[in-house]
Formats: sequence, C-alpha cells, structure tokens
Amino acid sequence: MTSAPILSTSHLLGIEHLSVAEITGLLDLAETYAVLNRAQNKKTDVLKGRTLINMFFESSTRTQSSFELAGKRLGADVMNMSVKTSSVSKGETLIDTATTLNAMRPDILVVRHQDSGAAELLARKLDCCVVNAGDGSHEHPTQALLDALTIRRRGRAFEGLIVAICGDVAHSRVARSNIHLLLKMGARVRLVAPRTLLPADADRFGCEIHHDMKSGLAGADIVMMLRLQLERMSGAFVPSTREYFHFYGLDHKKLAYAKPGALVMHPGPMNRGVEIDSAVADDIEVSLIQEQVEMGVAIRMAVLDALARGLASGGRNAP
Ligand code: CP
Repeated sequence: MTSAPILSTSHLLGIEHLSVAEITGLLDLAETYAVLNRAQNKKTDVLKGRTLINMFFESSTRTQSSFELAGKRLGADVMNMSVKTSSVSKGETLIDTATTLNAMRPDILVVRHQDSGAAELLARKLDCCVVNAGDGSHEHPTQALLDALTIRRRGRAFEGLIVAICGDVAHSRVARSNIHLLLKMGARVRLVAPRTLLPADADRFGCEIHHDMKSGLAGADIVMMLRLQLERMSGAFVPSTREYFHFYGLDHKKLAYAKPGALVMHPGPMNRGVEIDSAVADDIEVSLIQEQVEMGVAIRMAVLDALARGLASGGRNAP
C-alpha cells in the first residue's frame, strides 16, 4: 500500500472544502480497510505510537465506537473522554477542555459538539489534527464519506445518480455533508421534506426540492432517510409523528415510487415508525443500513491514516 498524501489540510472539518480527488483518495483507501476489517487479523501499525482522543459532547453509538475501533485497528493509543464525568460538568469551557487535552500531546482529536463551527474553532486553537465527528446542524463529513463508500461498493456510479434525501433536512448535518459530496461527485440530489423541515436557504443548495414523497422518489436510485431530530427542535415542526409517518415515513408502498432496485439508506439512529417502517429498514434486499455501519469503521480508518500521513510529512509530531 502506498503512503502518498491524500488530504491537503491537517484537519477534516467538512466535505465542503474537499476536492473530488481528496474524496476519491479517501474512498479508495477505505476500500482496502473494508477488506482488512473482514479478515481475522484486523490490525496494522500505521498509527503505531500515535494518540487519538475522542471528545464527544453529544451522544453517539456509531461514530464514537467506530473511531475507537478504527484507531485501535491502526495501532494507535485511543482515549475516549467521558464528557459527563469530566470537568465540563463544573463549567469548564469547550476551549479550555480541548486545550487541556491538547497539552497531553495527542496527534488526533475527534470532536462531536452541539454547536455548528465547534470543530473549526478547535482546529484554529490546537496544534493536533482535528476531525469533525458532527457539529450542530453544520457537517458530519465521515458520515457522508461512509455513505459514498457504501453506494460505490454496490456498483453505483455517482455521475447522474439520483439521490433523494428525505425528512428533517433543516436540522441535519448528515444532509449537508451528503449534499456537498454527492453534488461534487456528479449526482443529482433531491430534498424531499415539508416546508417546515427545509432550511430557509434550501433553494441555494443546487438540489431539486420536493414536498411530497411521490414526486420526490420518482425514479430515484437511492432513498436516504433522515432522522426527525426532535432534540434540535424548539416548538412543533410537524403536527404529530403519526401524521409525519403517514406523509413522509418510508414504507414499501412509498418506496415503490422509486426506481426498481432502488436502495435505502439511513445514518442511524432510526426512529422506527416515524421516518422509516421496520419492514423497509430490516429488508436486506433494499436496506444498506448495516453496510453503512460496517463502512463507518473503514472510512474512519482511512481518515485517520490520511491525517497521520500529513503528520509524518511535516506536522508537529513529525519524526
Ligand atoms: N450516524 C451517526 O452519527 O450515528 P451516532 O449518533 O450513533 O454516532
């Protein structure tokens, strides 16, 4: 395996500023890790001697555990900071918390935070690599990368691919990162949502906008469902979750509007019976949800490897 640089920056803060070559380089590298992850011996030493800290201010199952596994499989020392039992509970700020951890000389800090821009702020203040594991409703770059890897491994070319992103776009960092990535790669992106769940500037994203599932899903190759993010809503954005499911929840009847053979994605965690019916989510003929989780580890290994290559070629911890 070559160790040529892939990223032009020492952080991964979003998809917006990545080039097609950088995205493709990460996907290609992740393919090799997807193979390794199915082998009996899943370990390499490309991050041997490196230290990775996970700092998650919001709950996570998939992202935190896959960054932890990714770091360990690459041979790094991995520390998961427990925000709940940290001095954050005594009022220590994000910056003070991060600079304290930075003084312990980690090589890579993976951060999830409820505020948009938090990862970028840390990248400006710290001298280790910063990875955005989700900041507010801004970006979740590794989610979009793992989604792209999952699509590509199913043999779907991005050019001309019709992807319908459905549901709570307004509060979704997953949607924003996927929109950036899919448009860069030549896909056609549709946003399918009630007006209350679309951002005010949605018409400037370069996507088609639909307010009903029938027209939004017509001819779609990929149907990407989004979680209704009740924790980010102040006030009622939908009359009731029951009514929401009736109009926007994906069941087999609505999926039939899409192209025959269309595949279903969801970043998780799912609200079953709200944005997606269990009969669709668990249908292995159409659902890519478990593959998305599997590819999450491979993508995060690729991202950590790519950042470590930058460190080795002149970062603060260069040998
Ligand atoms: N998709 C995603 O970010 O899931 P978690 O919140 O479980 O990490």
